[in-house]
Parts: sequence; structure tokens; C-alpha cells
Amino acid sequence: MSLKEWLLEDIGTPRKSKSVSDAKTESDKTIRIDGIGKTYSRNGKETEAIRNISLDIRKGELVSFIGPSGCGKTTLLRMIAGLLEPTEGAVYIGNDICDEPGRDRGFVFQDFALLPWRSVRRNVETGLEIAHVPKSERKALVDEYLRMVGLENFADSKISELSGGMKQRVGIARALIVKPDVVLMDEPFGALDAQTRNILQSQLIRILKETGQTIVFITHSVDEAVYLSDRIVVLTKRPTTIKEIIEIPWERPRDRSSPEFNALKKRIVEYLEKENVMETVSETNEKQRGE
Ligand SMILES: Nc1ncnc2c1ncn2[C@@H]1O[C@H](COP(=O)(O)OP(=O)(O)OP(=O)(O)O)[C@@H](O)[C@H]1O
Ligand SMILES: [Mg+2]
Repeated sequence: MSLKEWLLEDIGTPRKSKSVSDAKTESDKTIRIDGIGKTYSRNGKETEAIRNISLDIRKGELVSFIGPSGCGKTTLLRMIAGLLEPTEGAVYIGNDICDEPGRDRGFVFQDFALLPWRSVRRNVETGLEIAHVPKSERKALVDEYLRMVGLENFADSKISELSGGMKQRVGIARALIVKPDVVLMDEPFGALDAQTRNILQSQLIRILKETGQTIVFITHSVDEAVYLSDRIVVLTKRPTTIKEIIEIPWERPRDRSSPEFNALKKRIVEYLEKENVMETVSETNEKQRGE
């Protein structure tokens, strides 16, 4: 039995997601990751983070990456963002080699990367300023996006006055407000409580439907990956490479209380455990400390 059959066994005949099955022409490829590798060199010590990853991500697709802690997920996302140069291979956006950040890509950082001296409103506004959106249009847009992430009452708060989850929501609003073609999200909901996380996941799906944006999403949560993704890319331990690509062939929004959803989720967790992909976090940390 193939992996796909094994994963989908007993969960009924899935409906095909349009964004995956119907968008397979060359011109629809927004992101092409072509044989990239990354080795960090610091103080004479080399750390090979990524080894030979190739993947095409189509326009309007939501692809999530899941893999052990410290395997190289952020490194990969930063290379797609053009913030980091690969040591092997290249990333292409459309036909252009990606060697610098661009307005076509928004980034939600794992560590928020906000401007602490600016208010919530001014942080969310940053991208609009860079994009030269007139001041008269900015306020309404910022209000809309702050409402979307549930921060409408904190527009004038300082970043230092916010909780981790609130900071993450500022980061999400800041990235989405400029409506980039591609949104790169590094564990964007990781610091949120379960309820807020579910709300923002639903909002992301709604936005995706409206805008047709391409989303590259890193997560540690199988539940989140199954709920959101067209494809889940499973990464190995470092030096990381693609172990498996799991296609989730259902339309969104998905019913996470359905037996099919839970059956697939359980099977993916079993698969990750069976293949020893998701080692415990403490094991990874110990290894990193010992290096
Ligand atoms: N600037 C850097 N210089 C040297 N090594 C680095 C640098 N950034 C990351 N690394 C190393 O590269 C490896 C991958 O790091 P990365 O942050 O990409 O992992 P990750 O999968 O995002 O981890 P996590 O799940 O904890 O977010 C780690 O071993 C890390 O220590
Ligand atoms: Mg990371």
C-alpha cells in the first residue's frame, strides 16, 4: 500500500481541492525551490542546516512544513524570503531568482521582529509606509486589520505592553495588510491560546479564498497542518531534506470534528512517530547544546 493510500485509508472519498488539482501549469508556479542547501559557518564551525531541497509551490496553494525542532525550517523560509542566501541551488519567484526581499512576499516572523518603540498601529502601518500608501488610506486599513486580529482596542499600546500572543497578532496584521502575493509564516500561531489560534486559522482561510495568496506555513501542529494545508511537507532531522509530501485533498473550510479529519490526523501523527520524524523537543535541544 502506498503512503497516500495508507494515510487516506478508511476516511472516505475526499473531495478534490481546486487549488491543488487544477493549477498545474508552468505559469502557475509562483515559487520554485531548486536544489537548495544551506551550511552556516561561524567561528570556524560549520552547521549544515538544509540539504538538497527541491519543491514547486503553486499560486494560491497553502503548503505547510512540519519537522523536528532545529531542523532548518526557519532557514528554509528565510531563503524563500530572500533574507538568506543558499549555499547550494536557488529559489525562484516566478521566473526571477530570489536574492533579496521583495514587496511580493510578506513574512510573519517566529520571534515577531516588531519595532518595540512604535505603537501597535505604527507597527502594522510600517509595510504600508514602505509601499507608499497615502496616509489618508492607511488609518482605515490599519483599523480593519487590527479588528481582524482582535487588537482594535490596543492600537495605541506600546509593543512592550503586549503578551506574546498579542505580539504575534501584530506581526500577522503587519504582513497581511500589504496583501503580498506570497505570505511566509513561521509558526505564526505558535504563541496563541487554542481559541485565538482557531479563530485566526479560520480568518486565514477566509483571506486566502478572497485574495488567492500563496501561503508557506511552518507549524509543529499536525492538527493545524491538516486543517489548513493543500500539502504538508514533512522534513527530516538536520541536515533537513524532504521526507514526504502529504496532499490533503479536501476543500476548506474543513470540519475538524469530523471522523475523517481526526482519522487522517491520527494517521499522520502515527506516520511521523513510525518514521521517527518528530523526535522529542528535549532530545533535539540536548543535541544542539552538545554541539
Ligand atoms: N545564523 C546562524 N548561524 C549559525 N547557525 C545557525 C544560524 N541560524 C540557524 N542556525 C542553525 O541551523 C539549524 C537550523 O536552524 P533553524 O532556526 O532554521 O531551525 P528551525 O527548524 O526553524 O527550528 P525551530 O523549530 O526551533 O524553530 C540549527 O542547528 C541552528 O542552530
Ligand atoms: Mg524556526
